[in-house]
Amino acid sequence: MTFRGDALAGQHIVISGGCGAIGVGVVKALTDHGAVMTVNDIVAVAEGEQRLRDAGVSSERCRYVQGDLTQADDVVHLLEAARTRFGPVHTALCHLGMVLSKPILDVEPEEWDQVMAVNVRSAFMLAKAAANGMLADGINGHLVFTTSWVASVPWPGIAPYSSSKAAMNQLMRSFARELAPSGIRANCLSPGIVGVGMAKRQWDTEPDYRARASRAVPLGELQTVESVADAFLFLCSPAARYMTGAVLLVDGGCSLYPMD
Ligand SMILES: NC(=O)c1ccc[n+]([C@@H]2O[C@H](COP(=O)([O-])OP(=O)(O)OC[C@H]3O[C@@H](n4cnc5c(N)ncnc54)[C@H](O)[C@@H]3O)[C@@H](O)[C@H]2O)c1
Repeated sequence: MTFRGDALAGQHIVISGGCGAIGVGVVKALTDHGAVMTVNDIVAVAEGEQRLRDAGVSSERCRYVQGDLTQADDVVHLLEAARTRFGPVHTALCHLGMVLSKPILDVEPEEWDQVMAVNVRSAFMLAKAAANGMLADGINGHLVFTTSWVASVPWPGIAPYSSSKAAMNQLMRSFARELAPSGIRANCLSPGIVGVGMAKRQWDTEPDYRARASRAVPLGELQTVESVADAFLFLCSPAARYMTGAVLLVDGGCSLYPMD
């Protein structure tokens, strides 16, 4: 940790997918630095609250709101609940995501649609609703999208996921370009291969993935949740106030390699 403990004081941050493996670490880091957070996930309330407690997150600094953010009503409910609890939203982290692990020739159109709906459509709906709220509240807010180094590298077996992350990078640029005159910024954070969550599930169950991933990180080790959380901390802090339309790649150099 290199930021002051009050680096995010006064900020209300909403995160989707905040009870996932990376999400809880991000919530812990941002609340430890003074933010208050409304945390969404699709898991039941008791489960979501338990995961946040297990991560050591202060219950006074965060509120869990269950919802499926592929559903427009749930997006509206999330932002209403957020505003009621902590007031106007300053930053929205479109963080939830899913991966489908399948060779491209085996992917069914319905599976393609599901990955796009969960990753891209939900991010579009949350960012749009959050931005409209910021405009109504007169907030110079920030939209942050979690994408991935594979948005620009064709890592085998996850074509819909890679395509969805590339779409999110471009979606972010549209938000950034159209909303800059209103004082709203948009950026992406692109992690590498993190040793938890969806990458860890593939690492544990797919020997071919594990063999490739173990050779894919120039810095030599899988990414930690803490390094992802540090990058979020920077992006959410005033240190990033002149950034908009950028993809912050924090991937240990993965994207430098021609794979295999
Ligand atoms: N793990 C990695 O190596 C890695 C690398 C780069 C980017 N990412 C990205 O980081 C983010 C988090 O990944 P993770 O590894 O922690 O995965 P994870 O599966 O642990 O977390 C994803 C969370 O999103 C939630 N979620 C899924 N669908 C939802 C919906 N419709 N509504 C609300 N919540 C929903 C899940 O319940 C889960 O808690 C994703 O966007 C992922 O693409 C992960």
